[in-house]
Amino acid sequence: MQDVDKTKTLNPQIKEAAIRYVKRMYQNNRDSDIMRVLKKESFKHVYKKMVVDPDEFKVKPRPADIGAWNGRKPESPKDFLKSKVVLPSLPQVLIEIQKIIQDPGSSADDLARVLNKDPKLVASILRLSNSAMYSFRTEVDTTSRAVALLGFKQASSLALGTVSLSLFKRSMKGAVLHVEKFWKHCIACGVIAQAIAEAAGCENVERFFVAGMLHDIGLYVIFESDASLAQELVDLAGKEGNCLCDAEMELLGFDHATLGGVILKDWSFPTMLVRSTAGHHDPSKVVDDPDSGIVYIAEFIAQALGYDLGLSLIVGTLNDEIIESIGLPPERYVEILPSVHKIIDEIFEILNPS
Ligand SMILES: [Fe+2]
Repeated sequence: MQDVDKTKTLNPQIKEAAIRYVKRMYQNNRDSDIMRVLKKESFKHVYKKMVVDPDEFKVKPRPADIGAWNGRKPESPKDFLKSKVVLPSLPQVLIEIQKIIQDPGSSADDLARVLNKDPKLVASILRLSNSAMYSFRTEVDTTSRAVALLGFKQASSLALGTVSLSLFKRSMKGAVLHVEKFWKHCIACGVIAQAIAEAAGCENVERFFVAGMLHDIGLYVIFESDASLAQELVDLAGKEGNCLCDAEMELLGFDHATLGGVILKDWSFPTMLVRSTAGHHDPSKVVDDPDSGIVYIAEFIAQALGYDLGLSLIVGTLNDEIIESIGLPPERYVEILPSVHKIIDEIFEILNPS
């Protein structure tokens, strides 16, 4: 964990504080090649943040307008959804995209026709197609061209993810979860998952971008449902050694990953998205499922690079078996990391939640 910018001398006190902070972040992880790479990346952004915005690291008092949580533990994720949450209804365009994905007789023209019904979606798809995430030689200026270049499967899943994430734009009650941080985290996870999938030689890598974008949908729903519960979770996750999932398990009996899987299953989303969402904090669900394993690793790396939700300090435990199951050596991850920041910023700007 050394220099942030080799041309500048680091402030020794801030450097010490950043090293201590990073040690605590990774306290549940054993030393390994990939962990050393990620700790270095974490040190860079933690040091920079400590210089630019030291208040971010101070313990914040509980907001006065958030009352105590009622302590009622739901019987199950379904019980929670029934009693606590008004899920947004699915827009017509999303229902039609799903029908097209599920119908083997659908054509690229059918997809382009559905996408064209929603001007905002068309704008997002065109801008994404022209972004640094793709390297098409010509400008993509029509939906049909985007579908032709991306391919039917990629274009339909990109549209599915874009419309789904756009459902989660409301500002939080009490703002316990910062909506911009949430979006950046989801987009970062998607970009990193797609980059890992490409490096690992997977097909239809777009689905990894979508899986990353949707993986924390359950977290959004929990935090949107009840500000008192959200605050209670953050308080509990802030205690020594705890992560957010531990706090969720203690207060709710399930974590946001399980809840997200239940929501996407109810919405009849593709199985890969349901599985990767449900398993992104549970190695036992992911170890025999490399697609979900990639999303699991991407989520960890997104946090290591500073695209965290600001809800708990520690980054969880990266499972060695899952890293091995993907088969990429640490140096391949090192190659991926420098390019992702620019793409994440660009896609955030395109899909901007505000
Ligand atoms: Fe998560």
